[in-house]
Amino acid sequence: MSDNCKIAIYPGSFDPITYGHIDIIKRASIIFDEVIVAVAKNILKEPLFSVEERMVLIENSIREIPHIKVESFDGLLVDYASRKHANAVIRGLRAVSDFEYELQMALMNRKLNESVITVFLMPHEKYSYLNSSIVKEVARFGGNVDSFVPPFVQEKLLVKLRHS
Ligand code: PNS
Repeated sequence: MSDNCKIAIYPGSFDPITYGHIDIIKRASIIFDEVIVAVAKNILKEPLFSVEERMVLIENSIREIPHIKVESFDGLLVDYASRKHANAVIRGLRAVSDFEYELQMALMNRKLNESVITVFLMPHEKYSYLNSSIVKEVARFGGNVDSFVPPFVQEKLLVKLRHS
């Protein structure tokens, strides 16, 4: 990648990736030359999938989207963003209820490193109620998650829940 390439980091837990995340990745890939989907290692909540498993699920879900890399990171997001020479951090905003937490995070990240710019993208409204936790809960109790996650993710989710 040349120096004037615009790089964005899309960080998150992705436990697991949903169609809502994929929608955001597609939108970010239109704006930026390279999008790094970055799986956070040190999340407070206990994840269902390991970091490596989450990365495989993402890789399988974004094959047809160009210029996407999948990585993981530890520590502060702003430090990782600087190491990657990223121009922006992408976050999805589904509804007003997301706003308070996202604003707090964006402003904290800006306080920690003035040069980190957060860009909010809105997924299609059909994904506005979707998040990984709710998908896991529906799957855990036998509900159909076809329209929330790609088939590969669904398959791994059902296997994981059967063994957990
Ligand atoms: O998908 P999530 O769980 O909403 O993602 C949150 C995430 C991983 C982006 C956030 O917790 C994060 O950036 N963690 C890394 C540690 C960090 O930099 N914390 C300060 C941000 S305010």
